[in-house]
Amino acid sequence: MSTTQQILFHGEAAIELKIPLFPDLPLRQAAQRLDRYHESSIPNPEIGKPLVDTPLLTAPDIRQRIWQELQRAVQDRHHEWRTPVLATVNADGLPQARTVVLRHADARQATLQFFTDKRSPKFAELEAAPSAALVFWSKRLSWQLRIQATATVQRSGPEVDAVWTRVSQSPAAGDYLSAKAPGDVWEEDASDTPSDNTQHFLGIVTLQIQNMDWLELARTGHRRAVFTADQWEWRVP
Ligand SMILES: Cc1cc2nc3c(=O)[nH]c(=O)nc-3n(C[C@H](O)[C@H](O)[C@H](O)COP(=O)(O)O)c2cc1C
Repeated sequence: MSTTQQILFHGEAAIELKIPLFPDLPLRQAAQRLDRYHESSIPNPEIGKPLVDTPLLTAPDIRQRIWQELQRAVQDRHHEWRTPVLATVNADGLPQARTVVLRHADARQATLQFFTDKRSPKFAELEAAPSAALVFWSKRLSWQLRIQATATVQRSGPEVDAVWTRVSQSPAAGDYLSAKAPGDVWEEDASDTPSDNTQHFLGIVTLQIQNMDWLELARTGHRRAVFTADQWEWRVP
């Protein structure tokens, strides 16, 4: 039996509404019982298991661990690095920031990818000014990761077609089929879904990483290291 109802946004659980399984109990007790039920019935192998099981002695180790976490985040929708904040610069030179879902992480190429509606402001911003920043925070790891990158956008082509073939079968498909563009003024009576779902607006953004600024918060002392493609250095946190 389902205990929760999820509202999906770009295929991610943006809001989780709990449905009372225990209608006879007062709300607070029902919520506590539901939490226990949830914990016991849906074991998450990641909870309570230290991902960093050896001390991170050298910066190259840290670089490797960062990529492991980024790749885990692509696979695991509960990973805290799954939804970083992406910052861009708009046509007026002003900063813009928003959440995106991390869709691909390639350690060898040092690239990350996310998908977006190609009519969205961020897509146009990155086309005009390809400098971007991403920020990730993980409470579990006590790690912040700040990335500076150069973006390339793809509106069409074989890679977009291949991604759409996959996404069109998923609950996220609707995010790329809207008749109106993201940011358009909402009109109550306007029809919003095109009848033909082959006309999609999915675009791919690839971020070529220029540098990664890693910060670890710890009671024993914070640590910070900055990595470029072939160099790294410790920094004052
Ligand atoms: C959890 C979460 C995940 C999101 N993932 C994406 C995403 O992968 N791609 C995207 O374009 N927008 C995503 N959004 C919506 C953006 O944050 C943003 O509101 C929207 O894309 C419009 O941004 P823009 O006006 O800067 O283009 C997500 C929002 C949330 C809350």
